[in-house]
Amino acid sequence: MGTDGWASPAGNGKTCPGGLRNDFPCDRGHGKFIVVGMSKVNIAQKFSQVHDYWKPHIAAELNGQELKLSKLKGEFVFHHHDHEDELFLVVKGRFRMEFRDRHEWIEEGEFIVVPQGVEHKPVADEECWLLLFEPAGTLNTGNVVNERTIKELERV
Ligand code: NI
Repeated sequence: MGTDGWASPAGNGKTCPGGLRNDFPCDRGHGKFIVVGMSKVNIAQKFSQVHDYWKPHIAAELNGQELKLSKLKGEFVFHHHDHEDELFLVVKGRFRMEFRDRHEWIEEGEFIVVPQGVEHKPVADEECWLLLFEPAGTLNTGNVVNERTIKELERV
């Protein structure tokens, strides 16, 4: 992300190095770009665009990391990530992070970092709004691929 705050809208995960104007095509072959980085973002407004549980949406990207928003309700699946640490911050509600030998309640305004390799399973008895921060491309189900796996994330 340059100081002009240009980034791709189409989900290809690349930022444009040219400071081009909104909706103008990048002359370096990066496609069309929109401003995302230099405008403030209202988290609740972004969450209003998330309608499905357990479906992370990308809200921002920086330095090879992605900020994702997800609504949780119910149980996820035990999994781990071979190469990524994950940060989970509760914006609204609460959830329980289950590990193989214990669990931890994460309350509104709290976060937890799960290191790579550690098996974890989020569980939310009531709807919970979660902010995730992790390397771009981190798969939601980690080493497990099943019907809960979402490979192509939408943006909000
Ligand atoms: Ni995970």
